[in-house]
Amino acid sequence: MSETNFKERVFSGIQPSGNLTLGNYLGAVKRFVEMQNSGIETIYCMVDLHAITVWQDPIALKTQTRELAAAYIACGLDPNKSILFNQSQVSAHAELGWILSCVTRLGWMNRMTQFKDKAGKNAEKMSLGLYAYPALMAADILAYQATHVPVGEDQKQHVELTRDIAAKFNHDYGLELFPLPEPIIEGAATRVMSLRDGSKKMSKSDPSDKSRINMTDNADTIASKIRKAKTDPDSLPSEPKGLENRPEARNLVNIYAALSDSSVSDVLKEFGGQQFGTFKPILAELAVNHLAPISSEMARLMDDPVEIDRLLNDGAMRADAIAAPILKKVKNAVGMIV
Ligand code: TYM
Repeated sequence: MSETNFKERVFSGIQPSGNLTLGNYLGAVKRFVEMQNSGIETIYCMVDLHAITVWQDPIALKTQTRELAAAYIACGLDPNKSILFNQSQVSAHAELGWILSCVTRLGWMNRMTQFKDKAGKNAEKMSLGLYAYPALMAADILAYQATHVPVGEDQKQHVELTRDIAAKFNHDYGLELFPLPEPIIEGAATRVMSLRDGSKKMSKSDPSDKSRINMTDNADTIASKIRKAKTDPDSLPSEPKGLENRPEARNLVNIYAALSDSSVSDVLKEFGGQQFGTFKPILAELAVNHLAPISSEMARLMDDPVEIDRLLNDGAMRADAIAAPILKKVKNAVGMIV
């Protein structure tokens, strides 16, 4: 069986580690919704097993997981069209994660830039889980034989590693059990940058709250963060090549393009020659109009955590129904009694 024999299936996930940002929204969730609405089978996860690779307050983790579920739904993911679930509620992830850890080579893991970035000089003090996490991410995707993985630019290396792990498993056990999944990194905002430093990714873990827009920020906060975003003194260029070496300007234009579903060149056709003093309030208004309904819908959904838990239980059962038979085939292939 070749790669093309696998049914098209989309899988992706986000860590419920709090503070969902505009980067997560534009790089991931907005794309998840588009893929769902294109009619492909879509499975989206809250990856709590990944979140605990760094310590999480247990009470906060439960709230953050429900909040992420609420965000998924408020952004347009529909539990009747997509499978939405929490990773730890489907045991195939942890089980396949272990099996794939035994296929993954240390040399491959040592090349993972995200571990190096997160661990910095403190690698000795990091958890084994943080180091091993890309093998678990491969298991998330391969437990569903998923073929397409929408992610932001920073996860590309992990999806490529998943392809290597899938190919080695298939080779080592002499069967085509896993597809080689494709990273889907598209749109104008695959790498949203910090509002304070255009060379750094917008991140929920940045110590400065002003560096990011959180999906729960209110209208005034969003507008003020955009007004105060770092820029340069020049006006906007009329063509994309004029954004070279202007990371802060490029970031705001990318955000505008992604929020308005247009291209960078169309945005520059409209705003080329204008100063940031004019552009920023228009961008702020666009962001507020787009995000305010999402955050109020999130708040409404969070008023009923019992209903969120019910939806997550239902999603976990549907996810398990796909993953369990695939895991059984994997165990059988490896030589486990099933
Ligand atoms: P996480 O939780 O860090 O981020 C979730 C998604 O948001 C994207 N993203 C961004 N996109 C654009 N600009 C940014 N500044 C930005 N920040 C984050 C990420 O690329 C990601 O798509 N390991 C993953 C979660 C995961 C996963 C998976 C993803 C676990 N298993 C299986 C896909 C498939 C992570 O930590 O993402």
